[in-house]
Amino acid sequence: MKDQYRLVEFNLNGKDVSCMVDARASLTDLLRNDFRMTSVKKGCEVGECGACNVLI
Ligand code: FES
Repeated sequence: MKDQYRLVEFNLNGKDVSCMVDARASLTDLLRNDFRMTSVKKGCEVGECGACNVLI
């Protein structure tokens, strides 16, 4: 699929980072899988509990 992956660049806890991301991926999965930030937790996975909230 064209444009399925996108380059994203951002500052993560004071460090500039970048990666190619599947446009369908959740931020929670990106942080956990690509940056090994296992402190980011999933709860309900439907946007109701707030367990996956991050500060932007
Ligand atoms: S896991 Fe994200 S709101 Fe519940």
